[in-house]
Amino acid sequence: MGESKKYGINTRAIHTQKKFKLPTGDVMPPIHMSTTYENSEPGESEYFYGRMNNPTREIFERTMASLEGIDDHETLHGFAMASGMACVTMIAELIKPGENVVITDEVYGGTTRFFTQIATKRGIEVNFCNFNEIKKLESLINENTKLVWIESPSNPNINLYDMSSISKIVHDKNSLLVADSTFSTPFITRPFEHGVDIIMHSTTKYIGGHSDTLGGVVITNKPDVHEYLHLVQKASGAVMSPFDAYLAQRGLYTLGPRIQMHSKNAHQLAEYLSNSEHIKEVKYPGLTNFKNHEIAVKQMDYFGGMLSFYTEDHIDDQKLFSNLDLYKLAVSLGGVESLIEVPSLMTHDSAAGTDAEAPDDLIRISVGLENIEDLISDMDRSLTASIKSLDESKK
Ligand SMILES: Cc1ncc(COP(=O)(O)O)c(C=O)c1O
Repeated sequence: MGESKKYGINTRAIHTQKKFKLPTGDVMPPIHMSTTYENSEPGESEYFYGRMNNPTREIFERTMASLEGIDDHETLHGFAMASGMACVTMIAELIKPGENVVITDEVYGGTTRFFTQIATKRGIEVNFCNFNEIKKLESLINENTKLVWIESPSNPNINLYDMSSISKIVHDKNSLLVADSTFSTPFITRPFEHGVDIIMHSTTKYIGGHSDTLGGVVITNKPDVHEYLHLVQKASGAVMSPFDAYLAQRGLYTLGPRIQMHSKNAHQLAEYLSNSEHIKEVKYPGLTNFKNHEIAVKQMDYFGGMLSFYTEDHIDDQKLFSNLDLYKLAVSLGGVESLIEVPSLMTHDSAAGTDAEAPDDLIRISVGLENIEDLISDMDRSLTASIKSLDESKK
């Protein structure tokens, strides 16, 4: 599918795979498990050794680049890695000792842990700030700033940042803008359209989509950055396994319709929660009273499947978790099933004490694909059953 731009995003998700024809006529690509390939003469050939290249991984890497809007996805293909964190560490290889990175102060806890506990030991300066405070952001970007790091929507506060205005500030200072687009996927936002230089996804989430594969992918539209990241992928070796690449690619075939349904369900649940007397505040980009709703309308094709909220003081959150039937108390997100969690204790515990720590009582939901009437009635029943007694309320 050379002329991919002619096709819509769902078509590209399904058909970018056709690189070579197998003699058996397989309609769907098989998993190539071999770690080495027979070559016709000595020297590195197209398929050489599994860490360097693998046909199953390659299909996924090309499809992801195409979905993010890269025309020449054969050349500027993505890099599929063993996890989302392997992508974070791979991108961080672009920063040299003495240089710095500026990160949104609402970012996945593992990203905070990597930058504060590992990158700083390599002589890299790490600064966090609220990217909606433009003056503060500008003051932190200087000639030593290699990367500026954004998550939009952010994990776990579901904050949004105007990527186009931020990319102008970043490019004026000759830095690169990175977007962790895990919550969005290319079916919601394509960050290259807004001036972003490097995109990453934890494919463990929406792209895999079934909570049964761990992986990540990095895509860049800058040839020089691509060349260096390719070296890092081959040399450092944390590549995605063929089986995970198969599952991630399989996830792409249904990603469009799944994102639509995740978004529809999350929107209805957010509306229900925001009208509930038991809920203090709901954070969801699709709510018209959400503080970043305008950015959401500008940047997002759908409002996504993630929401966060605070309960009123008369609700016992622990009771709520155990009363719920359909929402599992578990980390991670983007699967077909609904998950609920407390970021400060679960996904963001390692960010405690840093500028990127999560609020104590914030609750996050990854809204799944169950029937929304069932999700709402389960939540409604559980909230009512979790009202504190008069004695507990006084505590
Ligand atoms: C936004 C975001 N980025 C990166 C990661 C890390 O991905 P992985 O768990 O696949 O290493 C996560 C994991 O939850 C995430 O939510």
